[in-house]
Amino acid sequence: MKLPNQFYRPLAIGAPAPLRELPVKVERMIHFVPPHLEKLRAKVPELAKQVDVVLGNLEDAIPADAKEAARAGFIEMAKAGDFGSTGLWTRMNALNSPWALDDMIEIVGAVGDKLDVVMLPKVEGPWDIAYLDQLLAQLEARNGVKKPILIHAILETAEGVKNVDAIASCSPRMHGISLGPADLAASRAMKTTRVGGGHPDYKVIADAGEEPAPRPTYQQDLWHYTIAKMVDACASAGIKAFYGPFGDFSDPTACEAQFRNAFLLGCAGAWSLHPSQIVIAKKVFSPDAAEVAFARRVLEAMPDGTGAVMIDGRMQDDATWKQAKVIVDLAKQVAATDSDYAKIYGF
Ligand code: GLV
Ligand code: MG
Repeated sequence: MKLPNQFYRPLAIGAPAPLRELPVKVERMIHFVPPHLEKLRAKVPELAKQVDVVLGNLEDAIPADAKEAARAGFIEMAKAGDFGSTGLWTRMNALNSPWALDDMIEIVGAVGDKLDVVMLPKVEGPWDIAYLDQLLAQLEARNGVKKPILIHAILETAEGVKNVDAIASCSPRMHGISLGPADLAASRAMKTTRVGGGHPDYKVIADAGEEPAPRPTYQQDLWHYTIAKMVDACASAGIKAFYGPFGDFSDPTACEAQFRNAFLLGCAGAWSLHPSQIVIAKKVFSPDAAEVAFARRVLEAMPDGTGAVMIDGRMQDDATWKQAKVIVDLAKQVAATDSDYAKIYGF
């Protein structure tokens, strides 16, 4: 860990000063685009109006022989579009791959001023962030980039999970962390071939009774431990936690349940890999209108946030005032960027 007086120093002469606070942004879905496919690239200007973040994916799911085309396609897509308040991110290739260095040299060189966040896969520890932090500072300085490009780590190895606290707090360039359930399952030798979601065999079983089988079973959440650990690491470091991909596009109900568990536990958003998941993420990661209305009543009933009152038979005090403020603050942010929700909440 750096000494406090070194923490916010630019890492290269001429690089922009690191941010002291994350910009306040609504990032309910990080929408993945494969930028080597011209047909999908052409849809990006329209897409950018519907999503909070557009991400050009260079890593897994891009074939090895299309890596250069994806990088060039991302640069073209970034140059062509006016993204307004929509975030522009890329997922670079892993640091041990043959493509990572050129991903950063070429992209920061060409569109560094448009790029908000680099998603870094397979992060094992704070040393991976330190390397990219230094490289980005050098490239920002070389290319005259005015605002710091942030780093978002994917939590998708057993070692990364072990080191998640250190990853979250090692640099002022950290934006947040996403759970990557597919790589993480492989890294841990979990016996599932699914990308996120539950598994019917991961369950508890009711006690044996008098009657013959079947005894009731209750499916458990495979991801609870990791998401909770990630949320604590992120919240305590002042950065944001995200759920990553949900692979079964044919099961929107399960996708919604997975996203909602992440939202309730403290995540800010999730990845959308298919257009149908944009709608699901918007619905889940925008707080529920009835919850917002109730939270506003709590804040109004306790203007200075202290004391105790009863509302609809439910006890409210300083702590529940803070809970209500989380919901109302988020609703205000969502309303400020999404006019449909401004109407729904009545702001
Ligand atoms: C995402 O990258 C994952 O491995 O789940
Ligand atoms: Mg992965």
